[in-house]
Amino acid sequence: MALRAVLTLALPAALAGPLYPACYTTCMATCLSAGAAAAGVVPPAGLAGAAACASGCAALCAPSCFADDTTLQLAELPRGSSAVKIGEVQTGKRVWTLQNGQPMPALVVENRRLEGSFGFVELAVVSEGMEVNITITEDHNMPRLRRPHPSASFSEEDLEVVLAKELMLGDMMAIHTPGGVSLGVLAGLRLVQKGVKHVLSTATGSVLANGVLSSTICDGREKVYNRSSWSMTLQQWWAMHAERFAL
Ligand SMILES: *[C@@H]1O[C@H](CO)[C@@H](O)[C@H](O)[C@H]1NC(C)=O
Ligand SMILES: *[C@@H]1O[C@H](CO)[C@@H](O)[C@H](O)[C@H]1NC(C)=O
Repeated sequence: MALRAVLTLALPAALAGPLYPACYTTCMATCLSAGAAAAGVVPPAGLAGAAACASGCAALCAPSCFADDTTLQLAELPRGSSAVKIGEVQTGKRVWTLQNGQPMPALVVENRRLEGSFGFVELAVVSEGMEVNITITEDHNMPRLRRPHPSASFSEEDLEVVLAKELMLGDMMAIHTPGGVSLGVLAGLRLVQKGVKHVLSTATGSVLANGVLSSTICDGREKVYNRSSWSMTLQQWWAMHAERFAL
């Protein structure tokens, strides 16, 4: 009976974010008693037994994230320098994000690489003939333009927050290309499974990933956040996490 409850609870989508400790405890119990497959974890190669469960459950229950092929711009490097792969970005470095419509450096406070089997959404965003792609986990918080939006210009006050899996073709997203800051239209959307994810957080809670404005908010659908407002969500995230990152 206990095991049945455990298996029901082990659904990863329902347990992302604030429920991490519950997810982890449940996952471990299932993995140790019924095996990794029952717990839905794919442990890294070379690990067995409790170590495999611990590593696999940590990855499964870890929050939303970026795919391995994500690139960021380091603020230390001159503008226009080539982008750096997310796996090479160290904590303590600064990467570009957008704030008040301008590119702005954000401190990287966490960057972890996790192996397993994760559901991602691959987005293709098109602006003025340029296409940029970004791949984030299904429960990743993303800003998009609130509708209806009557004017051609936009500010960050016009952005709301949705999970990546809730995005729809035609949604407008903020991007930064060599041409500057603009809105791009979501023109492609595909679910993909990948074996590696990166949990990256910045001090602002946001980052330009492959040039697309994205949150680094890993709480899934945290109730506290005012999701109809991107800037309020970032402020609320900050209030809850400043202490954790000792900033
Ligand atoms: C970008 O995403 C679209 C839609 O998912 C896909 O068809 C295209 O191949 C991707 N482009 C690149 C360069 O990965
Ligand atoms: C949430 O944000 C929107 C947009 O800024 C604002 O109109 C609304 O009052 C906010 N809601 C709450 C509960 O603060």
